[in-house]
Amino acid sequence: MSSASAKIILFGEHAVVYGQPAIAVPVSALKAYAKVVSTDVEQFQIIARDLNDKIITFDEHEPLLRVVHLTLEHLGKTIPDIAIEVRSDIPIASGLGSGAAISTVIVRALADYFDFFLSDEIVNQIVFESEKLHHGTPSGIDNTVIVYEKAVYFVREQAIESIKIATPLKLLIGNTGRTALTKHAVGDVARLYKDKSTNTKQIVNQIGIISEKARVALENGDAELLGKLMNHNHRLLRDLTVSSDELDTLVKVATDAGAYGAKLSGGGRGGNMIALVSDEAQSIVEQALLDAGAVSVVSTILEATD
Ligand code: MEV
Repeated sequence: MSSASAKIILFGEHAVVYGQPAIAVPVSALKAYAKVVSTDVEQFQIIARDLNDKIITFDEHEPLLRVVHLTLEHLGKTIPDIAIEVRSDIPIASGLGSGAAISTVIVRALADYFDFFLSDEIVNQIVFESEKLHHGTPSGIDNTVIVYEKAVYFVREQAIESIKIATPLKLLIGNTGRTALTKHAVGDVARLYKDKSTNTKQIVNQIGIISEKARVALENGDAELLGKLMNHNHRLLRDLTVSSDELDTLVKVATDAGAYGAKLSGGGRGGNMIALVSDEAQSIVEQALLDAGAVSVVSTILEATD
């Protein structure tokens, strides 16, 4: 069985599309899985357990099939008569990289079936292609953090850099329960970016500076500063119009309840927010998020690197 973790963007979403740095980490508490469950079916199919057992065949217009085609092309194989079962704990359209994680596990399940080794680099390329179908101009950060499954300091079209994390950090991921398509938010920011009468470019640049500062704060284990940078990053994302009332409420509630800082994470307009918390504040912030309407709160630890 192949598996892949969800991701959260700590700093820099949206600005990363315009060449600014961003920082993202995998979330191993939420995973997608795929395995070949039958080699004796009439035609290739993907059984999507979390979509009411939806069966996807090549008769459908389904972006996931692009992943299958690209993988088979790399493997030099024709479509096999197999059924691949896909399951996922990662909420869809919520900024946690569900699409990239599902694509990743399908690529790996196919490679395993043919007993073929695909390097992370190739898997990343294939998944990136499928991301383009979900939203036209992905930066590549989601597929990169998910395929390599490690914390990254990411700049579009540059070699991936790992980041040093000095001390373990605790994060809460609060789900607004509202789904939102990344492509809409990315498209709206693109329109603003082109419109010279707005200060969108400056906002994007400021977000890039925040990511740079956050990298240093992570290296120094400075949770207080990271929290402040998260709050500032959230305000700038709100200025980019990608927040929502629910996200703003959860961010405010988290900081009022004692989080070091909080921000939306991912495409925005819905989906998830993250809050950086101390051990002492964790349960209070978690309860405050739930009381304010979060449909779920997942905790994750950013482990220190060596
Ligand atoms: C989505 O998880 C992150 C965005 O920055 C889009 C992208 O980087 O492709 C909003």
